[in-house]
Amino acid sequence: MVASRTPDWSRVRLHVVTGKGGTGKSTVAAALALELAARGGRVLLCEVEGRQGIARMFDVDPLPYVERRIATGRRRDDHPPGSVHALHIQPEAALLEYLSMYYKLGRAGRALDRFGVVEFATTIAPGVRDVLLTGKLFEAVQRNSRNKGAIEYDAVVLDAPPTGRITQFLNVSGELAGLAKVGPVRNQADTMMTLFRSPRTAVHLVTVLEEMPVQETVDAIGELEAARLPVGAVVVNQVRPRDIAPADLRAALDGTLDAARISRDLAVAGVHDGPELVTGLVTEARDHAERRALEDAQRAVVAGLGRPTFELPRLPGGVDLGGLYDLAGILAEEGLR
Ligand SMILES: Nc1ncnc2c1ncn2[C@@H]1O[C@H](COP(=O)(O)OP(=O)(O)OP(=O)(O)O)[C@@H](O)[C@H]1O
Ligand SMILES: [Mg+2]
Repeated sequence: MVASRTPDWSRVRLHVVTGKGGTGKSTVAAALALELAARGGRVLLCEVEGRQGIARMFDVDPLPYVERRIATGRRRDDHPPGSVHALHIQPEAALLEYLSMYYKLGRAGRALDRFGVVEFATTIAPGVRDVLLTGKLFEAVQRNSRNKGAIEYDAVVLDAPPTGRITQFLNVSGELAGLAKVGPVRNQADTMMTLFRSPRTAVHLVTVLEEMPVQETVDAIGELEAARLPVGAVVVNQVRPRDIAPADLRAALDGTLDAARISRDLAVAGVHDGPELVTGLVTEARDHAERRALEDAQRAVVAGLGRPTFELPRLPGGVDLGGLYDLAGILAEEGLR
């Protein structure tokens, strides 16, 4: 494992996966869910950005606002796998559900929807949208056998908003500060914050080895810590293969690669393509070495954070469902328990 500290997440019930846009939040959240389900039990994978990324990754129909079993956990030799369920959390539906639960507004709730009140509430009132989303998330994590008919989950994984928004998103009390100072809403917000700040929650950060995403990771960790939210692991995604020896990388950078030797090796491999090919290869090797040097510098910054760290390779053909299971297996190999 690449980790500087081995994480023990056996008590974590809510895994929040954030990161700069496009680094692989959705991919990592899905792989994590498959791996958590490998030990048996049920895992709920949630998304809140209305983009149907889960349905796309798992190759199923767009998800309604209903929990749905979408996959079997990764198979291990020593354990029958559990299952992954998915939920696409929509603020409007969460509000209606909330109203019908607390005020028995079943039919009236639907009328509210018709009159556009729901849309009003979720587009106008700042912060309300996030509180509806986190409220549903909280409900799924806190569920127990008293909630008749509802599935109890061993873990909930959130494909979360990006690093720039994550602290505000989870800081429910702060969002509601101006709206509700006392009363039931305030109490519920405080109960939610207690969960989000407890060791039962872990906020994981996905990055790639480039300057901007790594810097965002550093900043986000600072913000999360300041808000007393529990930081979990850093997942370095899309890592390029590191199969060139350091001496060759140095030579590629210095421009001292041995062109004659490359020609000879090509000839041995049955390629007799002249000097342009060799020049092209030397240029490519230099680009690769430069990129590797930049990546290594960023890897050192990540290591300096002192957080448990996982590295996931860039899958050459992109990520299909099989690829998600492969990435889940790598998380396990690297020590995810
Ligand atoms: N390890 C990997 N190997 C190859 N391709 C990857 C890997 N991880 C992610 N990708 C690809 O990179 C793209 C972005 O990944 P993903 O959608 O998971 O990122 P994201 O952070 O959720 O993006 P967004 O901010 O748009 O929600 C996708 O096309 C995904 O298939
Ligand atoms: Mg995504």
